[in-house]
Amino acid sequence: MDSIKTYLEEHKDRFVNELKELLKIPSISADANYKEDMLKAAEAVKQSLLDAGCDTAEVAPTPGHPVVYAEKIINEDLPTVLVYGHYDVQPPDPLDLWNSPPFEPVVQKTDIHPEGAIFARGACDDKGQMYMHVKAMEYMTRNDELPCNVKFMIEGEEEVGSEHLDWYIKENKDKLQNDVILISDTGMISKDTPSITTGLRGLSYVEVEVTGANRDLHSGLYGGAVANPLNVLSEMISKLTDDNNHITIPGFYDNVENLSDEERSKMAEAPFSIEEYKEKLDIKDVHGEEGYSTLERGSIRPTLDVNGMWGGYIGEGAKTVLPSKAYAKISMRLVPNQDHKEITELFTKHFESLAPDSVRVKVKPHHGGYPYVTPIDTIGYQAASAAYEETFGKTPIPQRSGGSIPIVSLFEKELDSKIILMGFGLDTDAIHSPNEHFGIWNYLKGIETIPWFYKHFTEMSKK
Ligand code: BES
Ligand code: MN
Ligand code: MN
Repeated sequence: MDSIKTYLEEHKDRFVNELKELLKIPSISADANYKEDMLKAAEAVKQSLLDAGCDTAEVAPTPGHPVVYAEKIINEDLPTVLVYGHYDVQPPDPLDLWNSPPFEPVVQKTDIHPEGAIFARGACDDKGQMYMHVKAMEYMTRNDELPCNVKFMIEGEEEVGSEHLDWYIKENKDKLQNDVILISDTGMISKDTPSITTGLRGLSYVEVEVTGANRDLHSGLYGGAVANPLNVLSEMISKLTDDNNHITIPGFYDNVENLSDEERSKMAEAPFSIEEYKEKLDIKDVHGEEGYSTLERGSIRPTLDVNGMWGGYIGEGAKTVLPSKAYAKISMRLVPNQDHKEITELFTKHFESLAPDSVRVKVKPHHGGYPYVTPIDTIGYQAASAAYEETFGKTPIPQRSGGSIPIVSLFEKELDSKIILMGFGLDTDAIHSPNEHFGIWNYLKGIETIPWFYKHFTEMSKK
């Protein structure tokens, strides 16, 4: 298998160029104007899977954006790896903060990536990481190194809550049967400290609307006498957390899994510098729930954040107005044993109770998802760990992440599989942000590591 290094050396420029082509397609799932591009991206992924040696590949329609499914079954008696990824991307705005256009990929060197990084929306999340699997497949099929069966399920709605994947999985349960699910859609600690993600947070996402008077009012004639929904909304939001940055929603913490002191001290062993963290983000101090470290606040504890807030006049100059309505989008990241449906209900009840009689409020739930935690004593985890040892020369650190991939817990429930999260991104890759990028070193390291996972997983499954 050492031929993977030579193969990478020979083909790396083509690997980068192919990814750039895929990144040129603006597959923005949230925006209906890009429906055609979604289809174009799905077709491109399908073709790349056929080129990589899959026997069959299809663009399967769903009530929403299509799923790309492909497979290569070499022997029914051998184990089957199901690879999941997503070809949709987040909207690129604010556009003026990008140093180069989001869908015109360029390679640029950075301090962390002296070998260069590809800058484009989706470079890391998730086109770049998904495409590592396509190229690893190409290597294995062309060099007679594929040791087991492979299935690919690449969806187009991850960034909007995987609304129809649920339906697709239930419709295709037999076809999707597998022995392990492999996903690269997370990060690792650093280039010289590999890690495997062992947990993801759940999510409850809501939109709130606060209405005052039945029309916009002159802020001189009515200001001070009629409630301003923007002021009221700000006050209501500030009441959702207390002075210790604890969330005040009654019952919110009832089911939260508390980690043992042993687990917490194990977590604290992971390399992390608070000074570096602050410096990279250009902040004087961090912020968060009293009694927990920054690493803990960002992974094992639940959160509540306003993602956007609007209403009234935001155009140029000044307009004197009391808006009739004010809005906010609020997300709550959840941890094991919290149920997003219950949390959304608790939020709604509490938020309504905070409203003074001078306004009316509406809470509209958006998507939600369950958290996921994976044990490390499985063959899947052990095979992944062995794979990193081959290519990094180090045992990866298991680490829970703060992000969410809501569909992961559904995989476990519907397909009865264990999910292995082998992510190669870095926190500094700016996913969902302007100037998203993916290091070429990380991209190639991923392609190099994945075939080792197949090899070890197949060998360990035989025992
Ligand atoms: N790939 C991310 C999730 C992620 C990134 C997990 C880094 C761990 C480390 C995924 O595409 C994502 O952005 N998920 C959304 C949730 C979704 C319902 C919009 C998220 O976490 O905000
Ligand atoms: Mn992703
Ligand atoms: Mn994402």
